[in-house]
Amino acid sequence: MARAVIVRPARLSDQPAIAGFTRETFTWGDYVADVFEGWLDRDDTHVIVAVDEADRPIAVGAVRMLSPMEAWYSAARVAPEHRGQGIAAEVSASLRTWARNAGAVVGRLLVEDWNTTAIRHVEKTGPRRVASFVRCTKPVGDASPSPSGNGGRRLPSKLRARRAGSTEAQPAYASWSVGELGRASRGLFGVHWAFRRLTVADLEAAARGSAFWEIGAGWALAAPESDARFEVAWLETREEDAGDLFRSLVDLAIGSGAESIGIWIPSTHWITRLARGLGFETALMHVYAREI
Ligand SMILES: CC(C)(COP(=O)(O)OP(=O)(O)OC[C@H]1O[C@@H](n2cnc3c(N)ncnc32)[C@H](O)[C@@H]1OP(=O)(O)O)[C@@H](O)C(=O)NCCC(=O)NCCS
Repeated sequence: MARAVIVRPARLSDQPAIAGFTRETFTWGDYVADVFEGWLDRDDTHVIVAVDEADRPIAVGAVRMLSPMEAWYSAARVAPEHRGQGIAAEVSASLRTWARNAGAVVGRLLVEDWNTTAIRHVEKTGPRRVASFVRCTKPVGDASPSPSGNGGRRLPSKLRARRAGSTEAQPAYASWSVGELGRASRGLFGVHWAFRRLTVADLEAAARGSAFWEIGAGWALAAPESDARFEVAWLETREEDAGDLFRSLVDLAIGSGAESIGIWIPSTHWITRLARGLGFETALMHVYAREI
C-alpha cells in the first residue's frame, strides 16, 4: 500500500545508511554505495533519497542526463523492510521532476529479465518496455578456459577488423538504421550500462578515439576498458557475417590484452543463438522508457 514518504536530495552524510541497506541487494552485493560520492559531485547527475522520521535514508535512486534531452534512471533501491509500499515510485517521481527541469523529454532505465519485482514496480508506475538487449560476456586470452581464448577449438575469423574513419560513420549508421539490429534496438545503444539514442556524431567521435571498427560488411564500437575488459557497445552486421564478426571482436579483445569481453546486442533470435554457440554467457535485459 502506498504511504506518504519524505524525499529529498541526497547528501554525503547519507552514504553509511545507503551502504547499510544495499549491502545485500543482489547475490553479488551492490555497487551503489561505492559510486554514491562520485555521483554527488557530478553536474549531470541527481541523487534522491527517501527518509524515515529521523531523516535516515530508507531508499535511494539516481538520474543522469545522457544527452541534452535524454535522462537515465538507475540505482533504485528500497531497504528490504520498506518494500511494497510504493516508496520507489516517490523517489522516481522526484527524479523525473529534476530531469524535466534539466531539459529531458524522455527518461529510460534498464531492468534485468529475472528481476520480476523491479519489472512489476516499473510497469505499474508508467514506463513502457521499448527494447530488449542481451549482455554477452566471456573470458578471453589467459583468463579463458581454452588457452586460445575463443571457447573450445578456436576458429580463426575470416574477417580482420580494421579501424574505420569518420567517413564510415554515415554508411554504418544508415545500414544499422534500416537493418534488423537497428530496428530491434529502437535506435538505442549502450554507453556502459546506460542506453541512449545513437547518432552519426557518436560514430564519428568513436572514429577519432580509435574505437570504431570496420569488420567485413559490418561495423562495431569497441575499445578496452580499465578493468581488463574489452567492451563492445554497438555492432552492425548481417546474419551471414555475424559469426566472423564476433570472432574478429574476440581477436581484438585478445590483442588488447583484455581478460574478458562484453558485448551488447539487441535481443534477436539468431544473434543470441550465435553468441551462445561461441561460448558467451548471455543475460536478457529490458529498456523501459517514459516521456517526461
Ligand atoms: C525494485 C524496488 C526498487 C521496488 O521498490 P518498492 O518501493 O518496494 O516498489 P513497490 O512498492 O512498487 O512494489 C513493487 C512490487 O514489489 C513486490 N513486493 C511487495 N511487498 C514486497 C516486500 N515486502 N519485499 C519485496 N517485494 C515486495 C510486489 O510485487 C510489488 O508490486 P505490487 O504491490 O503491485 O504487487 C525494490 O524492490 C528494491 O529495492 N529491489 C532491490 C533492488 C532492485 O532490484 N532495483 C531495481 C533495479 S532495476
